[in-house]
Amino acid sequence: PMVIFSGIQPTGVPHLGNYLGALQQWVRLQNTAHPSTKLLYSIVDLHAITVPQDPERLRRWKRETLATLVAIGLDPDRSILFYQSSVPAHSELMWILSCTASMGYLSRMTQWKSKLQLKDDASPLDEGSKSKLKLGLFSYPVLQAADILVHRATHVPVGEDQSQHLEFARECVTNFNHAYGPDLVAPQTIMSPAKRVMSLQDPHLKMSKSHSDPRSRILITDPPDVIHKKMMAALTDSTNSVSYDPENRPGVSNLLQLLSHFNGEGKSAQELALKYANFGLGQFKSAVAESISESLSPIRTKYEQVLAADGGRYLDHVWMQGGVKAKESADATMYVTLEVIPRAKQQ
Ligand code: TYM
Repeated sequence: PMVIFSGIQPTGVPHLGNYLGALQQWVRLQNTAHPSTKLLYSIVDLHAITVPQDPERLRRWKRETLATLVAIGLDPDRSILFYQSSVPAHSELMWILSCTASMGYLSRMTQWKSKLQLKDDASPLDEGSKSKLKLGLFSYPVLQAADILVHRATHVPVGEDQSQHLEFARECVTNFNHAYGPDLVAPQTIMSPAKRVMSLQDPHLKMSKSHSDPRSRILITDPPDVIHKKMMAALTDSTNSVSYDPENRPGVSNLLQLLSHFNGEGKSAQELALKYANFGLGQFKSAVAESISESLSPIRTKYEQVLAADGGRYLDHVWMQGGVKAKESADATMYVTLEVIPRAKQQ
């Protein structure tokens, strides 16, 4: 049977990169899945604390992320929506996996290397700063592997920036199964067509929640005036016309990509470039903003409803119900997997 698992960090309302790169796929898979397919979508709060968090703000962000998942069309009665911290088995399997995971592999992961600033253009961290880096940040991919493997997920829908982490999850399966005999299941990556949405302020960087400039990203719940402002401020280039050329015109090309996902005509970025060839950039940006606003408007309405439903208690019901189901799913795996540790058996 198919098991679909994916996760998102609760770092505020998700942006268009999250939406097009992952969340939209989550909904599509839910709506097309065979009834026997299990779907689990987790808000990974334990991953969020690999960097400093204010507890009150993190609590709010978890709720907002959950409300967004429901608002985009995930049905809590079909898909298991839960907070990672509700299911202790994620952390438990992480420990077991970390006992067969290699430090060398982990230290080669790009996310870790970017923390060490081991990129060509940046100077490496000095020893003092290095020793302040946190263990949780280093072992982040092991927890992510545990998230997936503890549910025996067969498919994981993500954006491109997660492909290395999924590669590592498969490595964890190989290591574990080699040490203890086949038990864990190797997951496949499902990459969305919009695998890498770029920042509006620097089209060479991916759109990200951590970028300091909020104009670099459009949030799923941004109202039309905010979307319009961010779009008009988007960095393009000095050619005042529209053409699709990711190499030489990454800014305009990113906007064409966005438009192709939102305008509902199923046209590719190249086709849209022809349609808008006679537009000036300002006029074109307006059209993109309008298209995005129109698509997001029902989601924004539903988001407000979901947050307020049942005096705010509806969402508590959602994550608690999801937690119970996810715990059942994870415990079934752990019951077998924990046999690698010679547990005392009841006579
Ligand atoms: P996170 O919270 O950074 O992102 C959630 C999802 O959004 C995708 N994404 C993007 N896709 C295209 N373009 C972008 N600019 C863009 N930005 C983000 C991500 O690829 C991801 O699919 N480590 C994960 C969370 C996680 C997880 C898991 C995912 C924890 N455990 C198990 C899958 C399976 C993360 O930080 O995603």
